Amino acid sequence: MSSSVKGLIFDVYGTLFDVHSVETKCDTLFKGKGKEISTLWHQKQIEYSFLRQLMGQYKPFSEITLQSLKYALNQLDISYSKEEITILMETYKELTPYTEVEDALQKLAHKKLIVFSNGSRDMLEPLIENSPIARFLDMTINVDDIKQYKPTPASYTHALNKLNLKREEILFLSSNGWDISGAKSFGFQTSWINRTRSPIEEVDQKLHYIYQDLNGILALV
Ligand code: LAC
Repeated sequence: MSSSVKGLIFDVYGTLFDVHSVETKCDTLFKGKGKEISTLWHQKQIEYSFLRQLMGQYKPFSEITLQSLKYALNQLDISYSKEEITILMETYKELTPYTEVEDALQKLAHKKLIVFSNGSRDMLEPLIENSPIARFLDMTINVDDIKQYKPTPASYTHALNKLNLKREEILFLSSNGWDISGAKSFGFQTSWINRTRSPIEEVDQKLHYIYQDLNGILALV
């Protein structure tokens, strides 16, 4: 990567924080169903963000996260109480950062470090503030104000406009294939953090860099 990179934009859910850290609480409430609930919940959460974007029916990600949780429990024929829903929604504010994240961000502190997420302010701010990585971040950007989810070009334009940096001065990092493809299509330099060792998305976007976790980029910047 050219040394022109002045800022790194990190995706949040799945990239810096493990969304499946909700599994333990799911399992505590619904014995033996934790993994199934967590997997279906996350899949539906992302699907609903795409569906609502295409329908032009934006809702904050916190509401999508609630609706996708209810879908997952209903799909698995699990009956639940309002209290159990509240407990599980709260876990989204205390997700676990991946093990290498804190150390990697500390080593990248000489660059502008930004997080950009589809997460709504009401869920993103407590998550970041409750975490050990808040002190390394220069800015947290969400999509509440523009009501356009990633991977729309409008969403990446929104993030770029918040920064006093040129597009080519930014390295965008995400574990989500749909997100890193959108960022590449938009024109950012891209590093896919392929935590799940998934195949490349077949959407004709040749990514600049691919690593299994954040440590790979330390040699680049
Ligand atoms: C994020 C995930 C949903 O925007 O990509 O944090």
